Amino acid sequence: MSQNKITLAKDTIDNSDIDHLIEWLKTYPRLTKGEMTIRFEEEWSKWIGCKYSVFVNSGSSANLLMLYAAFELYQLRNKKVAVPALGWATDLSPIMQLGLEPILIDCNLENLAVDVKHLEEIFIQEKPSVLILVSVLGLSPHMKEIVDLCKLHNVILLEDNCESQGSKYNGVKLGNFGLMSSFSTYYGHTMSTIEGGMITTNDKAVYEILKQLRSHGWDRDLDQARQNELRSQWGIDDFSALYTFYVPGFNLRSTDLQAYLGLRQLQKVDSMIENRNKNFHLFKRYLSSLWFPEEVENSYTSSFCIPILAKNKSNKIKLAKRLFENQIECRPLICGSMGTQPFYIKKYGRKELPNAKIIDEQGLYIPNHHLLSGQEIEFMCSCISNEFSERIIA
Ligand SMILES: Cc1ncc(COP(=O)(O)O)c(C=O)c1O
Repeated sequence: MSQNKITLAKDTIDNSDIDHLIEWLKTYPRLTKGEMTIRFEEEWSKWIGCKYSVFVNSGSSANLLMLYAAFELYQLRNKKVAVPALGWATDLSPIMQLGLEPILIDCNLENLAVDVKHLEEIFIQEKPSVLILVSVLGLSPHMKEIVDLCKLHNVILLEDNCESQGSKYNGVKLGNFGLMSSFSTYYGHTMSTIEGGMITTNDKAVYEILKQLRSHGWDRDLDQARQNELRSQWGIDDFSALYTFYVPGFNLRSTDLQAYLGLRQLQKVDSMIENRNKNFHLFKRYLSSLWFPEEVENSYTSSFCIPILAKNKSNKIKLAKRLFENQIECRPLICGSMGTQPFYIKKYGRKELPNAKIIDEQGLYIPNHHLLSGQEIEFMCSCISNEFSERIIA
């Protein structure tokens, strides 16, 4: 029996971060979105290797904003959005909130992202305009195949990397493959700004629309040239421009306080990611006789948590109980299967997909975080004996 509870996450904001925050607050800075947010966005862009980043108040807001921006900016051929059956609720909910049409894609049982074959079938049959791609628990999807398919079928790719900050494919950080990508900086994610989210893009027009949509639809965050362009197009003087709204916007801003924390987090995020990756490989060694996710070739996993597949549903419940008894936190394997969630069933009826059903019934995840010790990993693995889980893929 372990002495201390093994929690799913440990705070990445430490005492020194809080002390620095207090010192900074004593300078009585402006706290709403301002210079610190711009600096954080610039540093994030450098760290990801992209051109532009937009800081928002959560990963869910990032998903909502990027989806809305795609439809605001482009005349898309239809309202169909392909979305993984295994993802997070707020990958699906903005599709529903915006009056779009979700098409669920099954997952694969190796890296848990979309099943490429099913994706291709859906692209051919349904011709969706947009794909939201989720990198599950830090595992990289088959990026080349997916990007190629999106190009071939003229589908806009939006990446949800809320669980995979720092994961890479072919040496390139996730967040550089789609037209836009979302990240979460909520507590328990790779790095924390308490609450927060980021959107990355390499497209200037997308960047501009994101900034407008984030703040009411006005032009205040745009550069002078773009402001001049919009103001002269609509005949707006500088005073009226203060309350002129060009697109139907939201308010999804975060604050400079969060950005201050984010800048400090970025300084140590690489070592936290390295720890998560090392832990992932240690788990893999200990759990080698059981099912374990397979990393896509040439990928690097900034592991969020460790997925486990039990033999069946009752076995999963037994395993969860055993873990809790041993003071090990665990959770269902994110949403399991979106098509069997009440909010989906209420609107569209129940939709079961074969692999997502397996994940839904048999999947759970156990902790991995930057402060986990080798001893804790060994202890967790010893609790997951053959009796509770098995290799389901040859
Ligand atoms: C894949 C994925 N997308 C989006 C989100 C939403 O992020 P947030 O909690 O910052 O809204 C989460 C949250 O855990 C997630 O796992």
